[in-house]
Amino acid sequence: MDFNKDFKILSSGVVYLDNCATTLKPSAVIDAISDYYMNYSANANRGDYDMSRKVDDKIKETRQKVAKFINAKDPSQIIFTSGATEGLNMIIKGYFLNHLNKGDEILTTKAEHASLLLPWFEVAKKRSLKIKYIDLQDDLSVTVDNVKKGITKNTKVISLAHITNVIGDVRPIKEIIKYAHDNGILVAIDGAQSVPHDKIDVSDLDVDFLAFSAHKMLGPTGVGVLYAKEEYLKDMEPLITGGGMNAFFDSMMNVEYKDIPEKLEPGTPNVAGIIGFSKAIDYLNELGMENIHKYEVDLKKYMVEKLSKLKNVIIYNKDVPNGIVTFNVDKVFAQDVAAYLNKKNICVRVGSHCAKTLSEVLGVKNTCRASLYFYNTKKDVDELVDALDNDNILYDSL
Ligand code: ALA
Repeated sequence: MDFNKDFKILSSGVVYLDNCATTLKPSAVIDAISDYYMNYSANANRGDYDMSRKVDDKIKETRQKVAKFINAKDPSQIIFTSGATEGLNMIIKGYFLNHLNKGDEILTTKAEHASLLLPWFEVAKKRSLKIKYIDLQDDLSVTVDNVKKGITKNTKVISLAHITNVIGDVRPIKEIIKYAHDNGILVAIDGAQSVPHDKIDVSDLDVDFLAFSAHKMLGPTGVGVLYAKEEYLKDMEPLITGGGMNAFFDSMMNVEYKDIPEKLEPGTPNVAGIIGFSKAIDYLNELGMENIHKYEVDLKKYMVEKLSKLKNVIIYNKDVPNGIVTFNVDKVFAQDVAAYLNKKNICVRVGSHCAKTLSEVLGVKNTCRASLYFYNTKKDVDELVDALDNDNILYDSL
C-alpha cells in the first residue's frame, strides 16, 4: 500500500502525530462518502425505491462488517452512534441509570477520559451511587490485584478504558472481566484507543459493554459503535426517541419501540459516515490489526529510545506497548511546545487531554502527547526528536 498516495495530507509534508485525537482518512473512505452524496444520497429505512434500498444494504453490510471486525455474535449488537462519547453515555445513562440503586459502587480509575467519568458522575449524583477509584501502580497501570482490592459487596460495575488516552497503559481487561463476572459484576469498557490499534474480540473478552469511534480508525467523524450483550441492549432505554426507532404509537401515548438495533438508532442515521466507516474497516482488514499493532509498538520503541537521549525531555510512559508517548519538555509549558512544533509542521496534542483527574495521580496538569498510527515512519519520529533537541524551545515558540 502506498500511504502517501492513500492519505493525501501526508504528501503535504506534515508530521501528523495526533492519532489518538483522530486519524487521517484514506481516499477510499473519502471517495465512498462523496459517491454517496453524488450518486445515491437517499435516506435509510424509509424508502421503497432502489436508491434508498441501496442505502439500507450499505448500512446492513457495514453492521455485519463491524460485527465481524470485533467478533460480535450478531450484527444487531452493533449500534451506530455519533462516537464513543455517545456510546458511553448510552451505556451509563440508558442502561445503568435504570439498574443501579443507592449505595451501589462503580469501580473506575482517575486516569479515565471525561466521556467515561462525567456520565458516571451524573448518574452517581442522581442515584446516590459511590464512585471508587482503583489504586494505580507507580507507572499508573491497573493490576488485577488492585481491582480485586477495590471490590466490595456493593460493587456493581467496573468501568474503564481498555487503553488510556494519555498514559496508553493497556489494562488486563480479560482477567478483570473474568473476575468481575465470577463476582456478579458487569464491565463497561471505553475502547476508543484500543479498537483502532489491535485485534479486539468481544466474544473472547466476554465484555458486557464496549464503545468506540470510527474517526480514530480511519473513518469519518460523527460515527461510532456501541456494542453490548444482547440482553443489555434489549433492556437499554433509548436516550433519544423519534422516527425510525418506533414500531407504533397513537394519540393515547401508547408506544411500542422496535427491537435492537433500530430501537437505539433514532432519526436519520449518519449514512455517509457509516458508508465511509465501511471502507475504513476494509482498509484496516487489508493491513491486518496484528500487523498494525506490531508496527506501532516497534515505532514507539524507536521514538522512546531517541527521545530518552534528550536531556530536556521527560517521558511519562516509556514502557506501554502501543504508539502513545506522553512527555514534557523541562521548564517549558506544554502549550509552548505545541506552538513550537507547529512552526515545524509537527502536530502533537498538549494539555490535559480530556483526562483531568489524571493530574491527581500523575502530578502534572499538562503534557505533550505524540501518538502514532501505521502510516507514521521513523522519519516522522526523527523530525520530532530533532525539533525537540533544542535548548531554546520556549524562545523559538514565540
Ligand atoms: N479523546 C481524544 C484524545 O485523546 C480526543 O485526544
